[in-house]
Amino acid sequence: MSLMEDILRKRQSERHAKLMDRVYRSQSRIYDLTRKYYLLGRDELIAALAPPPGARVLEIGCGTARNLVQAAKVWPEAELYGFDISSEMLKAARKNLAQSRMKDRITLFHGDAENPALAMPLKIRTFDRIFLSFCLSMIPDWQSAIREALTLLEPGGELHIVDFGQAERLPSAFRSLLQQWLALFHVEPREQMHSFLVELDREMGTHSEFIPQYRGYSWRFVVRPAP
Ligand SMILES: C[S@@+](CC[C@H](N)C(=O)[O-])C[C@H]1O[C@@H](n2cnc3c(N)ncnc32)[C@H](O)[C@@H]1O
Repeated sequence: MSLMEDILRKRQSERHAKLMDRVYRSQSRIYDLTRKYYLLGRDELIAALAPPPGARVLEIGCGTARNLVQAAKVWPEAELYGFDISSEMLKAARKNLAQSRMKDRITLFHGDAENPALAMPLKIRTFDRIFLSFCLSMIPDWQSAIREALTLLEPGGELHIVDFGQAERLPSAFRSLLQQWLALFHVEPREQMHSFLVELDREMGTHSEFIPQYRGYSWRFVVRPAP
């Protein structure tokens, strides 16, 4: 990558971080209370992680760390890590870890999913499970974020994704209202996510499992790299 491309990428990342901070500055305090009613499918993802004992688990775009705290309870032998581009969300996440006495179980850091290698804490480079929960619908270059996440997986590791689907088995009026409402928060359900992963399977030999949930309200995927 040229120096100019590097500078442009850094600027885009800073702009996106500022946008996310603006979106979440006031929202982070009420986030967990309100989102539990409409970020559906997160607990199914956590249950499906099934990390081997002592595994390292990373959440990309961890927000308030709600999922990490839950995963720490469900998988007591896992080491947990999370990063987010929003300092406002990380502030709320740190508070949450202190309140739930999970500070020693979960490591948080600041980073951009489009360029995660820059953010990794020293000595930690790979993970047995990585997950993205309702985060790709907010990441401009979400395809890069998926590709980058795959480079951080240990052999035999898995990438788990849950995000808004296309509400394909719900009334179309509901779908269009939902999408208009989500757009107010800079959320754009990724209609191409399934076809992108099918294409990636062809290109990289990964195996992607597609699990639509709640009549397509949310889509869940498990991506396993080729052995
Ligand atoms: C809707 S919230 C989901 C938070 C959490 N994953 C959950 O399921 O509750 C989306 C999160 O993605 C983060 N995010 C957006 N773009 C990001 C990026 N490029 N890199 C890392 N995090 C990002 C936002 O700051 C926000 O915390």
